[in-house]
Amino acid sequence: MSASSTFIARPISAPLKGAVRAPGDKSMSHRALIFGGMAEGVTEIEGLLEGDDILATARAVEAFGAEVERLGEGRWRVTGRGGFRTPGSIIDCGNAGTGVRLLMGAAAGYDLTATFDGDASLRKRPMKRVTGPLADMGARFDWNAAEDRVPLTLHGGGLKGMDYLQTVASAQIKSAILLAGLNASGETVVVEPEKSRDHTERMLRAFGATVDVTEEGEGWRVRLKGGQALTGTAVAVPGDPSSAAFPLAAALIVPGSEVTVEGVMLNPQRTGLFDTWIEMGADLTVSNRRVSGGEDVGDVTARYSALKGVVVPEDRAASMIDEYPILAATAAFAEGRTVMRGIGEMRVKESDRIALMVAGLTACGVAVEEEPEGFIVAGGSVRGGATVATAHDHRIAMSHLILGLAAEQPVSVLDPEMIATSFPGFVDLMNGLGADIGAGRD
Ligand code: S3P
Repeated sequence: MSASSTFIARPISAPLKGAVRAPGDKSMSHRALIFGGMAEGVTEIEGLLEGDDILATARAVEAFGAEVERLGEGRWRVTGRGGFRTPGSIIDCGNAGTGVRLLMGAAAGYDLTATFDGDASLRKRPMKRVTGPLADMGARFDWNAAEDRVPLTLHGGGLKGMDYLQTVASAQIKSAILLAGLNASGETVVVEPEKSRDHTERMLRAFGATVDVTEEGEGWRVRLKGGQALTGTAVAVPGDPSSAAFPLAAALIVPGSEVTVEGVMLNPQRTGLFDTWIEMGADLTVSNRRVSGGEDVGDVTARYSALKGVVVPEDRAASMIDEYPILAATAAFAEGRTVMRGIGEMRVKESDRIALMVAGLTACGVAVEEEPEGFIVAGGSVRGGATVATAHDHRIAMSHLILGLAAEQPVSVLDPEMIATSFPGFVDLMNGLGADIGAGRD
């Protein structure tokens, strides 16, 4: 086995100060490239996240037949041919669950054959949640290694629309079915138990599709008719709230800090963490609210705050599912217990994020209780002084590095290179605010 690399975050005595921009939103960046590839004509994207997950999707869209060019920093042009064709190579989605699931949905609607694969983490993640409904619409799948996993081969085309009642609130499943439905006969309907992020619905409209969304119970009923062609358009990708969370979290826990992240997307299905922090007593304010790229956007400022533990409402999970690791890191500094439940989905993300946060926080001297579908953090002082395993998961790595800035002793994380999947430039951005994060020793 090769020696692992590490990053180390050292406790800082001076406050963090400054204003930064978060990288482009990962969910919207995947969608802008994929929809651009499915569309006829030119899609010009601004603010695209140039993280590894997105670069894998850009290569995939190219392999499916679109022309993809980088025009400058965050500025990309996709020239679509009005559909995907059989790629000449395997579609390697790297670490990206969103990439592979949305691409499978998009590709399923066309008469093509494609093999999808990914890295060691992606090869462990469940795929039947998407291939199941796509197969019900008429797509065929071969499992090339193990059932429910990539690598798998998709045979697309000849789909029929369907009504699908989701059991988990998942934007990835919803989006895959809707994208397949665009090229299916008849109507496709997805009903979700709770609202999941709706970037697909919003962005499809910008590409000229008609998508009908109505409230149903706690969730949404989304309908679209098959046979709708997409037309290339301009897409402005705002800053990713899931990435903005890291510098904002650092400001909340390092005494005297004040950090602003500008241009953060504030779609209500993405802001559960900010609501939770405010309930914990965080001094978090939004200014300069505007609409950009069909999404609410604002500048978010966090100031050091004495946080209190809370019970996070379970029905908030979908709106902050990627944010529990960084919430847990801040909860470690709060007075009292922070209870996070109804988040079993965290176990099937880039890693088992409940297990890894419990292990990492425990190693840093924080009292944590693990439950099958959640965990509880008892806040107080954080000793740190540990080297934490990340299972190559970007959010686990960043959450522990932020924790280390306010712990008593430094915190090291193993295998931090995956941070580049969602937040290239994380270390420089943090150090520019006054953090002390650097490469550690093997
Ligand atoms: C995403 C949806 C979420 C989230 C992922 C991005 C998306 O997954 O965890 O990082 O872009 O649709 P699920 O909707 O499957 O929970």
